[in-house]
Amino acid sequence: MAKTATRKTAYVCNDCGAEFSKWQGQCGECGAWNSLGEVVLESASTAKGVAASRRSSWAGVADAPKVTALKDVQHQEDARASTGIGELDRVLGGGLVHGSVVLVGGDPGIGKSTLLLQAVAKLAPTLPGLYVTGEESLAQVAGRGARLGLPLDGVHALAETCVERILEHAAATRPQLIVADSVQTLWTESLSAAPGSVSQVRESAARLVRFAKETGTAVFLVGHVTKEGGIAGPRVLEHMVDAVLYFEGESGSRFRVLRAFKNRFGAVNELGVFAMGDKGLREVPNPSAIFLSGNSAPQPGSCVMVTREGTRPLLVEVQALVDASPLSNPRRVAVGMEGNRMAMLLAVLHRHGGIAVGDQDVFVNVVGGIRVQETAVDLPVLLAVLSSLRDRPLAEQTIAFGEVGLSGEIRPVPNGEERLKEAATHGFKRAIVPKANAPRGGRIGDMEVVAVERLADALDAGV
Ligand code: TYD
Ligand code: MG
Repeated sequence: MAKTATRKTAYVCNDCGAEFSKWQGQCGECGAWNSLGEVVLESASTAKGVAASRRSSWAGVADAPKVTALKDVQHQEDARASTGIGELDRVLGGGLVHGSVVLVGGDPGIGKSTLLLQAVAKLAPTLPGLYVTGEESLAQVAGRGARLGLPLDGVHALAETCVERILEHAAATRPQLIVADSVQTLWTESLSAAPGSVSQVRESAARLVRFAKETGTAVFLVGHVTKEGGIAGPRVLEHMVDAVLYFEGESGSRFRVLRAFKNRFGAVNELGVFAMGDKGLREVPNPSAIFLSGNSAPQPGSCVMVTREGTRPLLVEVQALVDASPLSNPRRVAVGMEGNRMAMLLAVLHRHGGIAVGDQDVFVNVVGGIRVQETAVDLPVLLAVLSSLRDRPLAEQTIAFGEVGLSGEIRPVPNGEERLKEAATHGFKRAIVPKANAPRGGRIGDMEVVAVERLADALDAGV
């Protein structure tokens, strides 16, 4: 029976991925303006196919969907392959899981293609790989591989952007790993929308995900980041894949940080640190030292903290600049931490520390392009702010961490002892920490640990 071919379309918010049946100027979910783009849900032919197969199975004729008791489902520990790059393995949660789909996002030129080419080459003996390039020519990819001195045996490359042809090729050659560089260049024949449009990116990625799950092939999708910081194209990509890694770095710095933003197979916020050199990306297995500014004498407005992003402690430096403001509404700028949290901390500083910065511009920066999302940053921020306000540095070799509550109490943070040990290993002599995080003797090795309960005590101990 011929059915009139209808195209099912929806409107998807580029920011949050919410779906609407009608176009509207503002996203009803996240409130973004002008963010909705049209998406073809399924082409008429596949829709018919799916509907027909559903009808037959619902009728109980053919392959009716099978319900299984969950405890009877055969499963095994996630089989993982080491990428040969320790920092990448760490961010993936201990290696690449077979059949998983990993989205790697980052600014153009940050090193995504370099990292994945290195990974494919190192994985080739265990997982034969197919490197699909839509942005560079095969000669460029091969040239880079040779220049980096990578063993390219067992790595196949394909310059292709049409998903159907990529999957055809993959079905024939059966690689166990596919890198699609980049997802923004992919398009599928089933949609008429232009390549690069929201619907093409979404549908192409969905097909690769389906292929990965059906065949157990691992897939890396490379995605460029928009100036707003999201992966270009719909945020829905983030929902479809198993892991989302962001590759970040400050312009001008050779250090790159790979951060797990979502990971179904490991801890989120795990960090991997790399340095870009003339031989590609090199791992930095002990990164604590590189995020300190390297000032030899202590400077006003600086406080070193031990953060614990993912599963390892990391020393980072929090800097503050407090300066008399010419504006009636002084500026509050936070880089590397949440702005609202800084505003809240300044209110606590006034109310419970008796220190007013209402007529001052306050800038806070976490050195090295690192973002600290945990509350342990509270106390270091306030110490740095006070140090800058008073133009007096903290005592030499001092670290701090701790959450500051709204009533001025200093609250403990997880893994206090591990953080203190990391600081002591790096030669710090004094730590200002929440009372519940302090060890009994008041010392760790050579380091004196000052336990504080109230903000006022912490400020006295620090500046
Ligand atoms: P690339 O991996 O092409 O970035 P992306 O795929 O994220 O756009 O990296 C390109 C940048 O890296 C470019 O600015 C040159 C630099 N680079 C090096 O410094 N050393 C190297 O060995 C390589 C391969 C690249
Ligand atoms: Mg690239």
